[in-house]
Amino acid sequence: SSTPAFDMVFFGGTGDLALRKLLPALYEAHKAGTLHPDGLIYALGRKALGQEGYLALLDEQVKPRLGANLDGQAWQGFLRRVRFQRLEAGSAADYEALAQSLGHDPGRITVYYLATAPQLFTQICEHLAAAGLNHAGVRIVLEKPLGHDLESYEAINAAVGRCFQENQIYRIDHYLGKESVQNLMAIRFGNALFEPLWRREWIENVQITIAEELGVEERGEFYDRTGALRDMLQNHLLQLLCIVAMEPPASLDEDAVRGEKLKVLKSLKPFSAEDVISKTVRGQYGRGAIDGLPVPAYREEHKVAPDSNTETFVALQAEISNWRWAGVPFFLRTGKRMQERVAEIVINFRNVPHAVFPKPLGLHSANRLVIRLQPKESIRLYFLAKEPGDAMNLQPTYLNLDFHTMFKARWADAYERLLLDVIRGRLALFMRRDELAQAWAWVEPIIDSWEQNRIAPRPYTAGTWGPAASSGLLSRAGAAWHEET
Ligand code: BG6
Repeated sequence: SSTPAFDMVFFGGTGDLALRKLLPALYEAHKAGTLHPDGLIYALGRKALGQEGYLALLDEQVKPRLGANLDGQAWQGFLRRVRFQRLEAGSAADYEALAQSLGHDPGRITVYYLATAPQLFTQICEHLAAAGLNHAGVRIVLEKPLGHDLESYEAINAAVGRCFQENQIYRIDHYLGKESVQNLMAIRFGNALFEPLWRREWIENVQITIAEELGVEERGEFYDRTGALRDMLQNHLLQLLCIVAMEPPASLDEDAVRGEKLKVLKSLKPFSAEDVISKTVRGQYGRGAIDGLPVPAYREEHKVAPDSNTETFVALQAEISNWRWAGVPFFLRTGKRMQERVAEIVINFRNVPHAVFPKPLGLHSANRLVIRLQPKESIRLYFLAKEPGDAMNLQPTYLNLDFHTMFKARWADAYERLLLDVIRGRLALFMRRDELAQAWAWVEPIIDSWEQNRIAPRPYTAGTWGPAASSGLLSRAGAAWHEET
């Protein structure tokens, strides 16, 4: 169904995120007929491009990215929705001009999407408020990184909170918009089958991996200050962990869902200094090869310090101290320049209490549920079955739910879904202030301890699964990463 009429205002309209993700996502929604015919997109930027110049930029940079989804007529129709406006984040007059363009139609939904450097967030919010653009009904989307630590995160919240109410603030984590993450909720709370097994009595361990083949690309300057723990684990991986581990919410109401997620974050066992040494692995890629082509080491990347100690890989073993999960290791890992681009959640179930059949060599868990987020969304349930023939030989097999085979209809990518959610006023997939604060509070001791103890990242060859210590982390717990079994 179509959205209400809206004005979607992108701060950072000429930036990487807008061109790579946000505009393509709205184009897809436009093409699918989901956007209200009166929906307008305002792209704001510092450059003196003018309307024509901006549309030319979209033709040059966005259009080629659409690949097979490009439809000439739909593209022209989409461009008619776009308005470029020049705006200096610190210029009051520019906000007045924006207010003029937006007008005061109470029937329209206004969304401000802050896709700029977070250092500008405070200034932008204050100017919006001063120009009277923060009235009730307006929504504001905050893109990550939201802070560098708990203190800087809270500083952003305090500033934004002076201008907007919490229920107007949409803190985005695009991983929550991915189709299989939604499906994980569907599996858990739409079926009775898994619930009795979804607990420490039946689950041996949980693994969450987000591996990328990409390096740091043109983001060396940002990344070198940030590292994998802040860039990926504090947000995307912990959000996935919450969806796996949370109690069934009473409803899909935003605060019901977010309240349950917060309880998980609050139950995460804090890391002691010893835990940081024994249960975390930091890595940094050296030279290697991706798909057979040589790639440079992290320290050789553009705008990265040649003696940088920033991690491009992190693996850790977390524990959730509550009745459902006590003692079950949650292994999280993420890295750049890994062997494959894959994001998946693996639930390893316990083995049979008494073996009647010989177990296949090297197999850790007979039963595992593998939820693949990308590429090619699927859900696989592994189990042992008898190999045809005289002997009682058991082999790992699986039931496979391949989404692209099962569902023929197109589905929205993460940003498209989340942008539509904002226009429709659905907060459930966005993070509440307290959730992210809790996530920062949990990762901070890890960051501090790495720094204080000068724990240098372990080198790994680009194009591999990370430092050997990452496998060691699991083998000490009698486990192995999914792809290693
Ligand atoms: C972003 C990180 O949040 O997520 C990037 O800043 C990372 O470093 C990206 O590449 C990964 O997202 P996706 O959807 O491509 O897996």
